[in-house]
Amino acid sequence: MSTYVETTASRPEEQRADLFSLQSLVKALESLSSAPSLDQIYNWLETAEICAEELQPYLGFKEGNYWRHRVYRNEFAEILVLCWRPGQRTPIHDHNGSHGGVKVYRGMLWETTFIYDATAGLGYKSAREYAAGAVTGSDVPDIHQLGNPDVSGQDLITIHVYAPPLGVLHTYKPGSAKIDLYTPDDTDS
Ligand SMILES: [Fe+2]
Repeated sequence: MSTYVETTASRPEEQRADLFSLQSLVKALESLSSAPSLDQIYNWLETAEICAEELQPYLGFKEGNYWRHRVYRNEFAEILVLCWRPGQRTPIHDHNGSHGGVKVYRGMLWETTFIYDATAGLGYKSAREYAAGAVTGSDVPDIHQLGNPDVSGQDLITIHVYAPPLGVLHTYKPGSAKIDLYTPDDTDS
């Protein structure tokens, strides 16, 4: 399942203190006593107005693969900032029991979704692009691939909230019924 939210108009700096910052998002997760619903995650991300200063510690790109920077994690949910050079993308995957939302901070996010049939294998379902300010996400059964298209000509920065935190994911290949395991790389190098 995916939703699309129009880019939020920029506001004067003096109003930003009242908005839902990255620190506010961390506080919301700190106060959880159970995993938040997907609607709750969408609501947080749609109202978030995250400024460059608080995002700065979590920015960094690698040439070989997209880079995941964890902002916060507890047993119920986690926040990640992902940095993508043009051409970098995830494997085709599901979230193995987690749901999550994604907000585009800068650049253009491409999402491709798939359907899986144990006999026919993995098939293409749809593709969509999301500009800065847009929010999308995945419910538990969804299979997708996210990336920064190689023709975008710009870096991509996205903010992710998953509940419960991601563990080992399932990965898929087009036309194949085989399901593999994949552990996202959280190392800093
Ligand atoms: Fe995903």
